[in-house]
Amino acid sequence: MSWQSHPKLELHLHLEGAAPPSLIRQLAFEKSIDVGGIFDDAGNYAYSGFSEFLQVYEAATQALQSPEDFKRLTQAVLEQLAEHNVIYAEAFLSPDFCGDRDLGAWREYMAAIQEAHVDGVTLKGIITCIRHFGPDKAKQTARCAAETAGDFIVGYGMGGAETVGEQKDFAYGFDMAREAGLRLTTHAGEWRGPKEVAAALDDLKVERVGHGVRAAEDPDLVRRLADTGVVLETNPGSNVVLGVYPSLDQHPITKLRDAGVPVTVSTDDPPFFHTTMTKEWADLETTFGWGADDFDTLNQTALNAAFCDDDTKQQLAKRLEQP
Ligand code: ADE
Ligand code: ZN
Repeated sequence: MSWQSHPKLELHLHLEGAAPPSLIRQLAFEKSIDVGGIFDDAGNYAYSGFSEFLQVYEAATQALQSPEDFKRLTQAVLEQLAEHNVIYAEAFLSPDFCGDRDLGAWREYMAAIQEAHVDGVTLKGIITCIRHFGPDKAKQTARCAAETAGDFIVGYGMGGAETVGEQKDFAYGFDMAREAGLRLTTHAGEWRGPKEVAAALDDLKVERVGHGVRAAEDPDLVRRLADTGVVLETNPGSNVVLGVYPSLDQHPITKLRDAGVPVTVSTDDPPFFHTTMTKEWADLETTFGWGADDFDTLNQTALNAAFCDDDTKQQLAKRLEQP
């Protein structure tokens, strides 16, 4: 079955991480910037392991310098989403790469990002701080989030190296964002184990967890997630390519779902992992035998967990109902 034409929702997508390598090359060429040896012979991003992935990711962002560049990036990402019938996506946006967390600059980047448009795809933004840049920078990022919370910026979160620092070091920014009305998610349980997921719940009080899959190693925590309805934004293809699991059949998505944990599926950084939403679904079908009912449940879980307003949710629900 090709799932390409089936409508989909995606809740975990890093905007810069979705940049087509060809766009980064073009922007670097136009500006005569050397982004370093970040491509392989076939023109794809080249890296090995998580820390090199982060280095290549950050090197690629050097080609993204102006609000206009981010408009072009967002346009390219929306076109990719439309190709795979993703009708709603929440993108992680990083003021760290958009004017160094300066609020005035961030407003200009945000306006440019919102100028990109493709019919049929609704995009919302979740501002993310970057964990390995440290808590002080994260406070500035949280201020950008709190000041621009609204119809487009609907959430606040944290990505970056989970192996650095503690979730609680970032509580100040999460508190500020919550007070501004933003919904919260953080990367946890990708590289560290269940304790990190518990810390995300206890110290940052998030309602969704990015990845969260290593929670599967602690039955008490799995029960807690199921009982409290905390939603996991899983990214199975990302986890396999980065080596969190040796192969998809070792991935705990089905185990978590069957234990009652609400799970969603996203691509994380699609060109880095040679994936798309269609491929994620197809791989779940091949490996775990998932079918139309499973994917409908996945969409409903994502719709319930989406950070957007109720009107948008109702419109999306109607589009999911269409045959
Ligand atoms: N930023 C982009 N992709 C990420 C991932 N998989 N984990 C943490 N931070 C990220
Ligand atoms: Zn991520």
